[in-house]
Amino acid sequence: MADPILELKDVCRFFGGVRAVDGVSFCVSKGQIKSIIGPNGAGKTTLFNVIAGNMKPTKGNIRLQNRNVTMLPDYKMASLGVTRTFQTIKIFSNMTVLENVMIARHPRSRAGFFSAAFRFPWMRREETSLIRESRKYLEFFDLLGKADHPAHTLPFKEQRLLEFARALANEPVILLADEPAAGLNTRETKDIAALIKRIRDTGVTVLLVEHDMSLVMDISDEILVLDFGKKIAEGTPEHIRKNDEVIAVYLGRRAEGA
Ligand SMILES: Nc1ncnc2c1ncn2[C@@H]1O[C@H](COP(=O)(O)OP(=O)(O)OP(=O)(O)O)[C@@H](O)[C@H]1O
Ligand SMILES: [Mg+2]
Repeated sequence: MADPILELKDVCRFFGGVRAVDGVSFCVSKGQIKSIIGPNGAGKTTLFNVIAGNMKPTKGNIRLQNRNVTMLPDYKMASLGVTRTFQTIKIFSNMTVLENVMIARHPRSRAGFFSAAFRFPWMRREETSLIRESRKYLEFFDLLGKADHPAHTLPFKEQRLLEFARALANEPVILLADEPAAGLNTRETKDIAALIKRIRDTGVTVLLVEHDMSLVMDISDEILVLDFGKKIAEGTPEHIRKNDEVIAVYLGRRAEGA
């Protein structure tokens, strides 16, 4: 595969007898939007946890830009350019919108956000540039007008956007987004789809977990289907749409529950 950013080989994560992720292998190419779909409990979030270093795999191998990163913890993965948004939004509710982005970005500054006591002129310069750069991310997500608002006062969709702004402020090479359209209406889901494409167009590769099939079919270059922790199909949206096993196991099951 041309220019893989992320490669998983036979990755497993077991919880006692539960094989949440069971021998999954795949690649994500640079500049792709790749989606992982599957029924509830299929292992999608667990797979993200393992890739992002929030959990260690039980076995298997993970490579990022040709480097073995299998057992690295989350902060190391973040420093190597793997960032994520969560199924349940994670932001600092009592901080302002701008501070949320500044904190996400501060590991890149020399002084550090909390230790910057403004004793030296270079610290103050750094603080000013941190604010300026953080505001650029807010502008990208149309949140600049709310920079000084406490994060918890934002409507739900804007809290999601803020979570994206925080993830991008870390300058990822790959962004893992876990159900970004959950809880959003049709109009808002379309906005999120457009936004994910814009993020990809800035050069960030995107790995997406999402239940909204129209969003997945619309924006994905490739789709991987998980069921009971195993990969049951992988390919273009057209390929997945026609795959009998996917229709039976995933789409069929969802239709029953609908
Ligand atoms: N920390 C944990 N401890 C024990 N079991 C877990 C843990 N995390 C996940 N599991 C189990 O692993 C399986 C996969 O869960 P996971 O959350 O990864 O699924 P998912 O595909 O993200 O589902 P959903 O679509 O509902 O978000 C489930 O059976 C779940 O109960
Ligand atoms: Mg999940």
